[in-house]
Amino acid sequence: MTTVIKNGTIVTHDLTYKADVLIDGGKIVEIGETLSGDETLDATGCYVMPGGIDPHTHLEMPFMGTYSTDDFESGTRAALAGGTTMVVDFALPSPGQGLLDAIQMWDNKSTRANCDYSFHMAVTWWGEQVFDEMKTVVEDKGINTFKHFMAYKGALMVQDDEMYASFQRLAELGAIAMVHAENGDVVADLSARLLREGNTGPEGHAYSRPPQVEGEATNRAIMIADMAGVPLYVVHTSCEESHEAIRRARQQGKRVWGEPLIQHLTLDESEYFNHDWDHAARRVMSPPFRNRQHQDSLWAGLQSGSLSVVATDHCAFTTEQKRTGIGDFTKIPNGTGGLEDRMPMLWTHGVRTGRLTPNEFVAVTSTNIAKILNCYPRKGAIREGSDADIVVWDPGKSKTISASSQQSAIDYNVFEGKEVTGLPRFTLTRGKVAVHDGEIRTEEGHGQFVKRPPKGEINKALSSWKEMTAPRPVERSGIPASGV
Ligand code: URP
Ligand code: ZN
Ligand code: ZN
Ligand code: ZN
Repeated sequence: MTTVIKNGTIVTHDLTYKADVLIDGGKIVEIGETLSGDETLDATGCYVMPGGIDPHTHLEMPFMGTYSTDDFESGTRAALAGGTTMVVDFALPSPGQGLLDAIQMWDNKSTRANCDYSFHMAVTWWGEQVFDEMKTVVEDKGINTFKHFMAYKGALMVQDDEMYASFQRLAELGAIAMVHAENGDVVADLSARLLREGNTGPEGHAYSRPPQVEGEATNRAIMIADMAGVPLYVVHTSCEESHEAIRRARQQGKRVWGEPLIQHLTLDESEYFNHDWDHAARRVMSPPFRNRQHQDSLWAGLQSGSLSVVATDHCAFTTEQKRTGIGDFTKIPNGTGGLEDRMPMLWTHGVRTGRLTPNEFVAVTSTNIAKILNCYPRKGAIREGSDADIVVWDPGKSKTISASSQQSAIDYNVFEGKEVTGLPRFTLTRGKVAVHDGEIRTEEGHGQFVKRPPKGEINKALSSWKEMTAPRPVERSGIPASGV
């Protein structure tokens, strides 16, 4: 059975043009004028774009004594409802647990996914087993991205020597390093002091993680990555200090990418000063939301290309879970949701304001990350041969975001009450229509794991450069006699 998307305007990262799209066997098989198929989807007045890719989610993640509430079923259903057709989650070994063991756990959870997905590997401790298994993870499991937490001291955090060792191993394997860039030692110290001084509420979370802790860690990670010769991806870049480090590194020719979240682009730190404890705690995530000056910096980064990708870091906890931290903000589970809202919020606040073009929207929600992760043009493209992961985007359709109508399993939404214009009319996951004019038709288990090979173009270029500029002994003809 074939499907044709008719009368729409195709928008990719580089082109805008009118054409129909024919889909067969989950792939785009033809792009052209006046095509026909067994089933027709009318895209009149709509943009036909590559489905969104959210490269940063934590579905059913064990964290801070609990599990994030959205799992691979509700999380990917939320994704599809908002036009996202692929998510990349983090396989997270507990201390001492092997990497392959952790992947097995994530394989088990992800069988319920409604859309395609992939994993990043987290390096949460260091040892010979980790070093050895990294090769299998890269070469057999199809994972080419490894995250390092520079925060969460005493839990997920790794030290600089461990990070440097891991980065060198990744360079050797042709993989990419990722960092959660916050100075965990400073955060731990600031948190303890704040609690001692009676700052126990959610606002303490924001005070404990000022932009300096993020700027410092970002700079440190960039320098360590440069010395190890590995490309670096900085997740949830939230402030000018971190963005500035990334911008400067890129201007110097370093291979570094930054990922702002839709939450940091559109919500600010005033949320933590709300008099309702629940309201503030529901928005506790790391890094915290920042002020307007930082938001302007992130938008400018997307416009100028110094920041590359907009993600969500979807890690959703219920109000009840958040309440574990009453009386001590350090016990509030860190994380917020956003999977269903990323694309509509970015369209509303990015494209409709004139900050982004529709092509730039596609780049930062889909194509750029597909290239970085080395799964382009299978994903992130409207091309013959690409997977039919497509969103038919109605730029005139509006709604008010509300927890009462969301797909996410939690009891609130950090964007509650926000008006958005720009929503999916249809979302297709490998050709299957999962959203049909407001109706959710997802199929549990339809999602497949996307293997991503190592040694992408950026890795190859960087390793050539590092090889060419590596230290070499100077050839000398005569060696002078030593001493007297
Ligand atoms: O607060 C956050 N971001 N929670 C999820 C885990 C992480 O740090 O990415
Ligand atoms: Zn993080
Ligand atoms: Zn995260
Ligand atoms: Zn299916």
